[in-house]
Amino acid sequence: MKVLVIGSGGREHALAWKLAASPRVQRVYVAPGNAGTARDTRLKNVALTDVHELADWAQSEKIGLTVVGPEGPLAAGVVDLFRARGQRIFGPTKAAARLESSKAFAKDFMQRHGIPTARHATFADAAQAHAYVDRVGAPIVVKADGLAAGKGVVVASTTAQAHQAVDDMLDGAAIGIQHNADGARVVIEDFLQGEESSFIVVSDGRHVVPLATSQDHKRLLDGDQGPNTGGMGAYSPAPVVTPNVHARVMHEIIVPTLTGMARDGHPFTGFLYAGLMIDAQGQPRTLEFNTRLGDPEAQPILMRMKSDLLEALLHASDGTLDRVNLQWDRRVALGVVLAAHGYPVAPRRGDPITGLPADADDLMVFHAGTAMQDGQIVTAGGRVVCVTALGESLRFAQQRVYEALGDIAFDGMQYRTDIGHRAMAAGGSAGSHRA
Ligand code: AMP
Ligand code: GLY
Repeated sequence: MKVLVIGSGGREHALAWKLAASPRVQRVYVAPGNAGTARDTRLKNVALTDVHELADWAQSEKIGLTVVGPEGPLAAGVVDLFRARGQRIFGPTKAAARLESSKAFAKDFMQRHGIPTARHATFADAAQAHAYVDRVGAPIVVKADGLAAGKGVVVASTTAQAHQAVDDMLDGAAIGIQHNADGARVVIEDFLQGEESSFIVVSDGRHVVPLATSQDHKRLLDGDQGPNTGGMGAYSPAPVVTPNVHARVMHEIIVPTLTGMARDGHPFTGFLYAGLMIDAQGQPRTLEFNTRLGDPEAQPILMRMKSDLLEALLHASDGTLDRVNLQWDRRVALGVVLAAHGYPVAPRRGDPITGLPADADDLMVFHAGTAMQDGQIVTAGGRVVCVTALGESLRFAQQRVYEALGDIAFDGMQYRTDIGHRAMAAGGSAGSHRA
């Protein structure tokens, strides 16, 4: 079977790499891909991003399954388009993707279906939003309703910061937010305390299979300081998700979300990612939904997956996910992102990259913002590569990654030296939980 992966990041490189390992796969195409997917002889880049062109191309190439990586094409309706043409695709419809593309939709949905999340209110009117901030006080969280490429959330420690965020987001043009069809809106919610974790499942609309647990590091700098990013590193499993927390997340968040979406007439097919805040009592609350795999969570998760990903996604696309039982490597996987000069504000492109280590069974360099230029691999985006390794413990995986990335160099390279520190503090080195 020929398979198409849509996207160009580290998540898509990992998806394509894992799909190519299936004995049933003839070739994996990646649109548009990066230098890493160009280099792997089992993969082939396709220089297309327009969803209509992709559908035409997939039809003419007799692609058996298309897998969508990022949120952009999902929110643009790529799944609806392929399905209307009778082409098999894995991902949520445009209506179901609103769980990510509209914070207001997601919060109202959670409230309606009793899914634990922070108390919130939604505003289109600036004066009302400001009054609400004054009434509730700080700390408080302000979120833009539309897709905002990671710039749409401000965790305000003072009301002055919150007022500024309200103005920035309702204006929007200032920080480049893509407002939803019903105009600029902000969601203002209570600040939640606890530890964050990513909880990702596969659903065919009726059945659900959880992936291995994971945790990412959103801040740019060591010690969780500095600006928010798309993610500077991740590991799997996440010790904070104990068997008890895992059961609660499935029972209180994942299953009610999937049954709620089906009941509302938008059955959810695809990867569903709940960003969780888990409090000291082990109560999970949903911070956000993403309707796709996390990046960089996908890289360590897929390195631990022992099952055939193609088989699983074919069943998930055909409504027979109840026949799938995923197997995971008992080892820990950990990935560290190397980011470009200027990331996350204005990443520089075109810096030559040297010293990339050879891929191995327990070490992969997943490419993201890379391109080939005059026969040389150069930076071409904010997050450049994610070096990911398997190890018998978190500490071993961490050592393997940091040793391997020691040889990699490009001008302005930024990375965190403490990926995995929270799991280490939780005593996750030996890891009794292997979900
Ligand atoms: P989101 O895109 O909604 O996940 O928000 C981005 C980041 O902001 C999260 O990963 C959290 O670190 C933080 N955040 C979002 N909502 C809250 C909240 N209600 N309380 C505390 N922190 C939050
Ligand atoms: N790593 C967070 C995300 O993919 O949204």
